[in-house]
Amino acid sequence: MRIAHISDIHVNFGTDFNNNIFEKAVKILNKLGADLTFISGDLTTNGLLREYELASEKVSMIEGKKAIVPGNHDEWNLGYKLFPEFFGKTDFIHYYGKLTVVGLATSEPDKDDGRLGRSRHGLIRRGVRKKNNLTLIGFHHHLVPIPNSGREHNIIEDAGETLDIILRHDIPLVLMGHRHVPYGVKIHNTLLVNAGTFSCNRTRGHFGNTFNIIDIENNSILVTVMNVEKEKQEKMIQFNCSDGCCINRYYEYDKKID
Ligand SMILES: [Fe+2]
Repeated sequence: MRIAHISDIHVNFGTDFNNNIFEKAVKILNKLGADLTFISGDLTTNGLLREYELASEKVSMIEGKKAIVPGNHDEWNLGYKLFPEFFGKTDFIHYYGKLTVVGLATSEPDKDDGRLGRSRHGLIRRGVRKKNNLTLIGFHHHLVPIPNSGREHNIIEDAGETLDIILRHDIPLVLMGHRHVPYGVKIHNTLLVNAGTFSCNRTRGHFGNTFNIIDIENNSILVTVMNVEKEKQEKMIQFNCSDGCCINRYYEYDKKID
């Protein structure tokens, strides 16, 4: 199974949104034949109606199934009331064959900080009930500090409780965004993966606009970062859910992912 993980599209009529990059990224994405595209929030920049309308038009260019959660930017200016009209429920469980996807809203109106809240723990528990399914949890804000993204802020306020319930249930894969850089790290039996920004001009250093390609096969999860401008793929992290073995190119430079 292949999942495309994209984030922080930032549709906007000012300087945030790069339409040329967006269209190029979608062309690359549509050729990859992903079974599902998970969008981890910030589809808009100010949560405005015109932005939602354009974001909806743009997202419809992405072929195939999509699961979408809101980001902090989508909640500004009453945007939290528009999100369900354009992109559906903000908290959900979807089943795609052997994959269970739990989408959760960590954003709150007119705030950049993230919070999961204990009321969403029930959804996480329900998400692991289907035996023999691989469970993926996705939300916008980051659960752990992300390197290469500047001074730490906006981490989920209840990160300790959130991490605890995720680790206790051995959730193999968590998808996040917000920081505009790609990253992956394994904690216990869980792989935490951040997507960079798909089409926002606010990129960091040389990271550029990127998205993640996640290939899941026989309990093995491989995350590859696609650089949109260079059209270049780079394997970032490989994790085996059954034996807990993980190769991370950020820390294990000598170990190549084949
Ligand atoms: Fe964000």
